[in-house]
Amino acid sequence: MSRGADLLLLGEKIITSRGASTAPLLGSELGCLTVIEKGAVAVKGGVIAAVGSEEEIVQRFPPEECRRIIESPGKMITPGLIDPHTHTVFGGSREDEFALRISGVPYLEILQKGGGILDTVQATRSTPYEELLEKSRGHLDRMLIGGTTTTEVKSGYGLDLENEMKMLQVINQLDREHPLDLEATFLGAHALPPEYRGRTDEFIDYMAQEVLPQVVEADLARHCDIFCEEGIFSISQSRRLLQKARELGLAIRFHADEMVSLGGAELAAELGAHSADHLLKISKKGIEAMAREQVVANLLPATPFTLMKDEYAPARDMIEQGVAIALASDFNPGSSPTHSVPLIMTLACLQMKMTPEETLNAVTINAAHSLGLGREIGSIEEGKKADLIIWEASNPRFIPYYYGTNLVQTVIKEGRVVVEQGQLRRSKNENQ
Ligand code: NIG
Ligand code: FE
Repeated sequence: MSRGADLLLLGEKIITSRGASTAPLLGSELGCLTVIEKGAVAVKGGVIAAVGSEEEIVQRFPPEECRRIIESPGKMITPGLIDPHTHTVFGGSREDEFALRISGVPYLEILQKGGGILDTVQATRSTPYEELLEKSRGHLDRMLIGGTTTTEVKSGYGLDLENEMKMLQVINQLDREHPLDLEATFLGAHALPPEYRGRTDEFIDYMAQEVLPQVVEADLARHCDIFCEEGIFSISQSRRLLQKARELGLAIRFHADEMVSLGGAELAAELGAHSADHLLKISKKGIEAMAREQVVANLLPATPFTLMKDEYAPARDMIEQGVAIALASDFNPGSSPTHSVPLIMTLACLQMKMTPEETLNAVTINAAHSLGLGREIGSIEEGKKADLIIWEASNPRFIPYYYGTNLVQTVIKEGRVVVEQGQLRRSKNENQ
């Protein structure tokens, strides 16, 4: 067998977590990054074959035997970013609602009047499959340029069998076709559709008994979510749907304790969820329960930012009490119209007082754990997928510091260069 690597990366610094592939980083460990000065990564067959000092790696993988070498003096290499909560597939857009909210109309009031999520439901139902596919592909391209190499994507703008299946099929097709890896989540209970007005329990039954089994049968989702919120779906309705999902073999992650302290975090712990998300209003008991049961908290600071709130999830309390923290964009056309994970890192620093180092771990290894993928992705370690970023920066603090500017220079997805000089590379053949 040849000693050559498919790709050899030589950088100023390699920055990654280490040794956290079986469990997320907790407490003070969340801020710990390994820095390899004058480091190198060898990639073979889409996987990281070796990582270490340049001297050591070059001995094991002589450059003259490697198919491609990328040298990046002065630049750092990190794992690809992971976005564990998004609503990337949707019809239409909601820039008018953006303006309405600025004038003072609250998000939930817009939804109660049939706008907001329901506006997107109408647009998504009336968008043909191919159009939805192309529109979503465009969003994934933007995410990739911003350094995201794996993203979770939810359904939830169909709210009936046909349209939920349509969304999930789009997600699955894009997972096969787009360089980004997608994790599909069924969010059939995202809002109550107009045809079920006043019949919330019947809608939950419909989702649990009819739609969910068909989604599982067609193998279209690995996770199940619900918008557990006052005035949307209650704790007992959420428990009913999520228990059924668990019985059918799906992993659980859900919108919890965002506007009102309902006990969503406690429910997530009770059900052994992979994650509970948002958590602005998490209770003391909820924090204890999530720490005890090792449920990852996916915090989504772009949402309170977009909704112009003064309050953010209590990240520091959660970190101190041993809850695993991940960060996500919540990308969606209403409460978080951003594709950018680096921007999320900035907001987590400035609004939740997380350190830049903590935010990098929260969008790499801990985000991987939130998706149940800690062994495959999230760090630069031998045997993991070669999902890597070369940054126009020499240390991780630059990522949240220069917000609004894309510092991603090169993105490598499973060993293929998919973004170069900040630009997408389209043709598969060009990629080596
Ligand atoms: O996470 N809270 C519910 N769902 C999304 C918003 C979706 C939308 O507004 O379209 C969220 O914020
Ligand atoms: Fe969301």
